[in-house]
Amino acid sequence: MDTQAPQPFIASRPAAALQGDITVPGDKSISHRALMFGALAVGKTQISGMLEGEDVLRTAAAMQALGAQISRQDGDWLVSGRGIGGLVAPDDVLDMGNSGTAARLLTGILATHDVHAIMTGDASLRRRPMRRVIEPLRATGAVFISQPGDRLPLTIIGAREALPVTYRLPVASAQVKSAILLAGLNARGVTEIEEPDPTRDHSENMLRHFGADVMVSQHGPARHIRLVGQPELRGADVMVPGDPSSAAFPVVAGLLVPGSRFAVNGVGLNPLRTGLFDTLREMGADLTIRNARVQGGETVGDIMVEATSLRAVDVPPGRAPSMIDEYPILAVACALARGVSRLRGLAELRVKESDRLSATAAMLRAGGVLVEIEGDDLIIHGSPSPAGGGLVETHMDHRLAMSGLVFGQVTQAAMRIDDARFIETSFPGYVTLMRRLGAQINPANG
Ligand code: S3P
Repeated sequence: MDTQAPQPFIASRPAAALQGDITVPGDKSISHRALMFGALAVGKTQISGMLEGEDVLRTAAAMQALGAQISRQDGDWLVSGRGIGGLVAPDDVLDMGNSGTAARLLTGILATHDVHAIMTGDASLRRRPMRRVIEPLRATGAVFISQPGDRLPLTIIGAREALPVTYRLPVASAQVKSAILLAGLNARGVTEIEEPDPTRDHSENMLRHFGADVMVSQHGPARHIRLVGQPELRGADVMVPGDPSSAAFPVVAGLLVPGSRFAVNGVGLNPLRTGLFDTLREMGADLTIRNARVQGGETVGDIMVEATSLRAVDVPPGRAPSMIDEYPILAVACALARGVSRLRGLAELRVKESDRLSATAAMLRAGGVLVEIEGDDLIIHGSPSPAGGGLVETHMDHRLAMSGLVFGQVTQAAMRIDDARFIETSFPGYVTLMRRLGAQINPANG
């Protein structure tokens, strides 16, 4: 995608409130995992509601290159798996595009397959750290040859007789946890992970759904996960809920544009993903859930949004894992809130698709908002009507582009967004959907 021309947009205040009920595309985390577990299972996996964004399509292509059969039929995706240990060496380099989740989880799978593979990604992904997965995965017996700083491109020589890993996560990362669990599937013995701060548990839930033996015990906030190696995974059906991280953008837009009122239907509400909605409620947001139900092992509901005037918030660092992708759009909400907000403990934002801590601060400053970064904290001085008129630099980061397009709905003068191409990685159809709600988003010419 980084070879195509940039797509600049102008976002400006709509004349009227946002309205009309919507649904958002499928959950990115669950979609990646459904394809990977399906490829490692024996038999057929049918995935409905899968996110057809660039990131997930990269995972589909990689699993195909490793020997799984994957096809699309009547809107569903069908995977015919090879069984654990059954993947084959790819003919070519595996290009994971912009997706850290695809790259890190796949590194886990390859570590315990007797294959030799080379993985790369786009300029953003090639800057992101891989040491966090390479280090624990070395204990399986796999060999990794990387670029300086443990970056992609990465050569992976999978272990022939893999050993299970015991590891305490030094950073709260579901990607690292999942990479180790995926590696543990083809290791003889028990893989054990200790998680001091709980992160999204889609891998654990889905492993069980496919028939693996996974035990999770809670010790205060910490979680201990045990996976028995070499189970026989059986193909299973997966219904992917709407992505709460994608719902975040129209939800915040609806809260901020005066008079707005609509529902975002069928959103995944796994409690390890809903930190943003809890935080917005602390800010006084009128958000209610209707039709809460359990669908394929995950809680799903309809979010009713009504425009509310928000107050500032102090977000503790421990909440970060449950809303790690939502800080750029939360920052937009804080920019419009009464008072000074402090978002604490955001070190991990520096190693996302961009350095999101600086890029989020720069986005708000470009719209005339007073922002400080103190250590790993982001401090935002809210105002009822930021001046706007600036340029949002998105740095190949889909979530900055989507946040910038929401920000421009509530600034006095329009905001320009330098490049919206990367929205395709996680939220195909975002601009069309936001326009249907009534948002003012137009291509900028030159
Ligand atoms: C993800 C985990 C998060 C998140 C990413 C998806 C996953 O990364 O930022 O978008 O699917 O496991 P970390 O776990 O590394 O924080």
